[in-house]
Amino acid sequence: MKLTTAGESHGKALIAVIEGLPAHLTIDIEKVNAALALRQSGFGRGARQKIEKDRVEVLTGVRNGETLGSPVTLCIYNRDFANWESSMSSERCDPDAMEAKKLTKVRPGHADLTGMLKYGQEDARNILERASARETAIRVAAGEIYRQYLAALGVEIGGYVYEVCGIKDEGKYAFNQLLQAKNTQIGMLNADLEGLAVEKIAQLKKDGDTAGGGVEIRVRGLKSGFGSVMSYTEKLDAQLAQGLMSIQAIKGVEVGAGFAVANASGKEIHDEIFYTQEKGFYRNTNRAGGIEGGMSNGEEIILRAAMKPIPTLMKGLQTVDYATKEKAVAASERSDVCAIFALEIIGEAAVAEVLANAVSKRLGGDTMEEVIQRYHLLP
Ligand SMILES: Cc1cc2nc3c(=O)[nH]c(=O)nc-3n(C[C@H](O)[C@H](O)[C@H](O)COP(=O)(O)O)c2cc1C
Repeated sequence: MKLTTAGESHGKALIAVIEGLPAHLTIDIEKVNAALALRQSGFGRGARQKIEKDRVEVLTGVRNGETLGSPVTLCIYNRDFANWESSMSSERCDPDAMEAKKLTKVRPGHADLTGMLKYGQEDARNILERASARETAIRVAAGEIYRQYLAALGVEIGGYVYEVCGIKDEGKYAFNQLLQAKNTQIGMLNADLEGLAVEKIAQLKKDGDTAGGGVEIRVRGLKSGFGSVMSYTEKLDAQLAQGLMSIQAIKGVEVGAGFAVANASGKEIHDEIFYTQEKGFYRNTNRAGGIEGGMSNGEEIILRAAMKPIPTLMKGLQTVDYATKEKAVAASERSDVCAIFALEIIGEAAVAEVLANAVSKRLGGDTMEEVIQRYHLLP
């Protein structure tokens, strides 16, 4: 399978093309729209999320609610485009409107400066429009299609926010509890800690500052043997790390015990293996996070990802004006203060994409019936 996304933040639309989905996958579009609504929610989001209510349109590859086996094209129209057409249209922009939207006070922590130098641009808008996390809307839509493919095999993905700006939840949660996170303000499962985190975000907003945070994403029901020990490029942990790290503002990814392995002994970290006729092979612990040797081992997959604080600060950081080379305060367009709730939703989408690809790589299949049959034949 292959996913391509396209689209600028204030352009006409965002597009995703998914190639390689088998025929006869039932697509529930309202579930895609529900995921898009979740991506736009959470305490700490900026004004844009209120302007636009994202909805997906399927342009190709699905007929009467079922995939055909042809490329599936998803589209989200940017409702805000009406206000940006004169400066973002693909032809005949109004020079005054372009000038009004020009950004040269390049923002630290963004792609602005490096992108301008690399692509020979005088206006950071030509970089930031693509660098923006708006792109993740269409990745969430595609991720929901992949999730529906995985769900047909009994594979489920869930997650929650375990940390916001130093307020950390050390609790251990069963997979079923994770669903509750979607009904909270910022995705935390401990209501007291969430209350503190919300207060913290509100305070940061008052101070013109921002927050990041950490999310845990878990996968239940994936059989062993997905990914590969034979080829480093197909290692499942490597692919999951790439999928998560490709999301804007993610600066660290952990699998299972993650960075804690660095200060633990072997006895403390490795999951011993047992066997009974009834259970087959099993482990009593899962510090490996469900992946050994680059392959799923049948246990829950456990991943963590850390998001840096949003780099646009209302009390802008110091920078240089690209045009004048003078010292300046970085530009600040309307912006999120904290987007950790959204990040959890996007992270699940990225994980769904990687896992659907790993399943497809191993099992192939032109129809969902073939995929399901092959999956159930596995030990
Ligand atoms: C869901 C989400 C929302 C974001 N919202 C904003 C925002 O409102 N303002 C901002 O400056 N950065 C925001 N970011 C972060 C930037 O997109 C990101 O830091 C920037 O593109 C640079 O990429 P990098 O951090 O991966 O190096 C957001 C990221 C995510 C995942």
